[in-house]
Amino acid sequence: MNGTLESAEILVQALNQGISEAPDLIENFEFAVCPPFLHLSCVQKDLGDHIKLGAQDCAFQDNGAFTGAVSAGMLKDAGCEYVILGHSERRQIFGEADQDIALKTKKALETDLIPILCVGETLEERERNEQEGIVSKQLEIVFSDIVFDENQTMLIAYEPVWAIGTGKSASVFDIEDMHGFIHQKLLKITGKTLPILYGGSVTPENAKDILHAENVSGALVGGASLKAESFLGIAREAQKG
Ligand code: PGA
Repeated sequence: MNGTLESAEILVQALNQGISEAPDLIENFEFAVCPPFLHLSCVQKDLGDHIKLGAQDCAFQDNGAFTGAVSAGMLKDAGCEYVILGHSERRQIFGEADQDIALKTKKALETDLIPILCVGETLEERERNEQEGIVSKQLEIVFSDIVFDENQTMLIAYEPVWAIGTGKSASVFDIEDMHGFIHQKLLKITGKTLPILYGGSVTPENAKDILHAENVSGALVGGASLKAESFLGIAREAQKG
């Protein structure tokens, strides 16, 4: 829930320009932006050819009397290809349960959106060494009722809650450990290998180490995505060998 419509448009125009002028970035990365619902349609007009559009949540219902909710179909209409689901702020501030997130993920897949499913433990859970159990449960509930069609896919974002917006990213050691665990868990419960993004205080300064870590396919970026220079800086740093 950051910024104004004007700031969103200025940001995406700068991203579009920065990416269009960098063939090496286009070759090596896929880019998507996920602005607030109300900015989607305007931002869509400025995206250019190399940036995809996503939303930050969707309802699990199709249509009807659900005041304040936005359906997966509406997102598709607005030009979205992705939707972030189960972000820790949705879970903690808005009380979303794993079961809600499971229904949303199923609905997004049925609507041909690519879900970016966020999982991750709180600081207290990590201090009790419960991170694997917590993430396992989050994944098991979501995937309990999902059977992928051949052309369906989704992304997982490992976002330790204590690293989001704190300036304290997880260490490469902890990221590799957890991403390896998630990779194995997904193979077991879905039979599939899905890309796993890391999120939580990713910046140009730590992007190279994080994005080169094992089983890390990309980043889900919050604060540093609000300025074109740091957004593009993450990609530039990450592509250094
Ligand atoms: P951050 O946010 O990059 O500011 O830590 C990540 C997120 O909100 O997903």
